[in-house]
Amino acid sequence: MDINRLIESIEEIVPLYLALPGDEIGVVYPLIHKLVNYRVDVEVVGVTWELTLMNLKLMLRDGVEFIVCHEDPFIRRSIGSVLWELGYRDKIPNKLMMDILDTQRIVVYRMHTNLDNSEIGTNSELAKKLGLKDIKNYPVSRVGRINECSLKEFVELVKKKLSCKFLLISGDLDRVIKKVMVVAGAGLRHKEFFELAYKEGVDVIVSAELDERLARYAQYLNIAIIDAGHYETEVWGVKRFNEELKNKIGNEVQVKFYENVKSFTVLF
Ligand SMILES: [Fe+2]
Ligand SMILES: [Fe+2]
Repeated sequence: MDINRLIESIEEIVPLYLALPGDEIGVVYPLIHKLVNYRVDVEVVGVTWELTLMNLKLMLRDGVEFIVCHEDPFIRRSIGSVLWELGYRDKIPNKLMMDILDTQRIVVYRMHTNLDNSEIGTNSELAKKLGLKDIKNYPVSRVGRINECSLKEFVELVKKKLSCKFLLISGDLDRVIKKVMVVAGAGLRHKEFFELAYKEGVDVIVSAELDERLARYAQYLNIAIIDAGHYETEVWGVKRFNEELKNKIGNEVQVKFYENVKSFTVLF
């Protein structure tokens, strides 16, 4: 399949205009001026939540030529200019990744906040997975109702539905939960979500990357938080995209989803 038609098909499913301003999306590797004399035809597409050296090796084995990912595959400050390649290329993790991508001439395409906002994306799929009703769409988040239960009961449901190995919880486990906000991934760092949750009368936020300061802030506002994991809250949207892409162009290209392994272990 012609690479431009592939990109068009991807963007028909998850349009670029859904992204927050300034987000780093679309083809992130190689730089666009190099892409011109790269490949014109793609036969194998790999879809993954986060491109890592581990799943890249599996993709090489399968002959993947075009990768769609959600997280940034490189370590860098978030700047969207040509200059980044000069400064960040030589950082060791980036260099390892880029050397493989260069040799194999693999293209990396990222969908980030456009996937977080999409109807088939991370937040919509997370809300669906947790059985939220009367869902209201907000930028990179969703708010909905559940049948009244205790925080403890809801935690059990989250753990089961998202297949979490462990969770972090802030809040009284006996409190009653009726209204839920989901912020898939690391979005909770933007404190606007707390203001929105407070205004909406949200009892609990399901998100990831919780830290001491965020937990304290949520306690002031009497909002419970469940950190169910960055991968565990986002991967469902990436898997749904993979299915949508397969349905759309699966007869012309091979589309395959690649899992991520948890980057750390917890001991008690
Ligand atoms: Fe995300
Ligand atoms: Fe994320």
